[in-house]
Amino acid sequence: MTVHERTQVGIVGAGPAGLLLSHLLALGGVDSVCVENRSRAYCEARQRAGMLESTTVELLRTVGLGDRLDAEGLEHDGIYVQFDGQRHHLNFRELTGGRWITIYAQTEIVKDLIAARTAAGAALEFEVSGTTVGRLDSDAPVLCYTDASDERHVVTCDVIAGCDGFHGITRRSIPANGLTMLAERSYPYAWLGILAAAPPSTDEVIYCRHDRGFALHSMRTPEIGRLYLQVPADEDIARWRDEQIWAELATRFALPGWSLTNGPVLQKSITPMRSFVAAPMRYGNLFLAGDAAHIVPPTGAKGLNLAVADVAALATALTRLLRDADPSLADAYSDHCLERVWRSTHLSWWMTSMLHIAPGQDQFESELQLTQLRHLVTSRTAAATLAETYTGYAPIRYDPSTRLAAKQLWPSVA
Ligand code: FAD
Ligand code: DHB
Repeated sequence: MTVHERTQVGIVGAGPAGLLLSHLLALGGVDSVCVENRSRAYCEARQRAGMLESTTVELLRTVGLGDRLDAEGLEHDGIYVQFDGQRHHLNFRELTGGRWITIYAQTEIVKDLIAARTAAGAALEFEVSGTTVGRLDSDAPVLCYTDASDERHVVTCDVIAGCDGFHGITRRSIPANGLTMLAERSYPYAWLGILAAAPPSTDEVIYCRHDRGFALHSMRTPEIGRLYLQVPADEDIARWRDEQIWAELATRFALPGWSLTNGPVLQKSITPMRSFVAAPMRYGNLFLAGDAAHIVPPTGAKGLNLAVADVAALATALTRLLRDADPSLADAYSDHCLERVWRSTHLSWWMTSMLHIAPGQDQFESELQLTQLRHLVTSRTAAATLAETYTGYAPIRYDPSTRLAAKQLWPSVA
């Protein structure tokens, strides 16, 4: 049997983008249906991001998602940058006049969002299959899926939001002439990431360039470390025993008088590195947000923060469109988001290329990396440039009541 339904916004994907969008739309009085092909448990356990810009933290607080984040998040003033056997601190709070960063795992944001949406009785379906979207250039696009009990749903929407990540179906449902730009760069290395029951050996995150490759020491809680190693792009994780991972991390982070605390590895995985931007982020009544539209290599921690900024802008734009019949912010959505996307794409590419060792890298390239790093830790201007984009480039445009005049909310459109 097929069930025919109606909603204002059909959302594909219950990652951070899809879940936050459904939460923000509900605050604006707009209905949505959100479908996800994985289980709730899988979404809540998928290890990914951890570093939040202060702009992201402020938005989550504003929309009622700050309680656990404030209790359990680890607020940091800045980062360490290590190269040539020395570790340097960059104090972002001081460099930006007050902005900071917070470690709070994506898994926890997803748990908080699912709890909030479930408590609100939201239409949120896990373990769906056969998701399709159609009639995207009409004013009644359709979202179709089969639910976990094998019932087929056809949901007629005003708008569809593609929040289904890089490998999702929504971007690929856009006809060939619908995307005017697909800009892509792949990198010849990957990250091997571990989650470990080992107290962090540092108070703030360390980005380390070593001749053997990049390493990153992050954390999740005062008891749990999150660490990454640069490995070859086609690396097989089975080649890395836990003792080898710890030994390689210790070699890359080594400093006189400092040691790395080891512990049981709870989870390990390999992440490929790619930059990708699809534009425009809209086709008819399909709006793309988060990783469905753009991905960055993880260095610089921009992906989740971009997804949050996209859906904050999208929620405001769709509330204006669907509640107040005002299309101006929806029409400006793609251009507005792409400005931030390209700034973050540059930061991630820059940090990636400055800190990783490419296969066959020659002395010229190594010296260019080292001179950039020396400049970063000795020039206040260079450090402030990094700090500004790292902590959140521009204010996130979100109007919680959606009652402000458009020009107060979004000056670039007015
Ligand atoms: P996703 O999280 O990918 O969510 C998309 C959802 O759609 C998924 O749940 C998927 O199952 C679902 N889906 C896909 N296809 C379908 C379908 N056909 N039907 C229904 N549902 C579907 N970012 C940061 O900001 N800071 C960091 O510190 C950081 N570190 C990272 C470290 C690693 C190792 C990795 C891999 C990423 C990191 N990122 C970081 C990036 C960040 O995790 C992503 O940018 C973020 O998950 C994007 O959220 P999203 O909701 O757009 O996409
Ligand atoms: C983390 C991930 C990143 O990509 C980064 O640049 C900093 C921190 C993390 O997982 O904590």
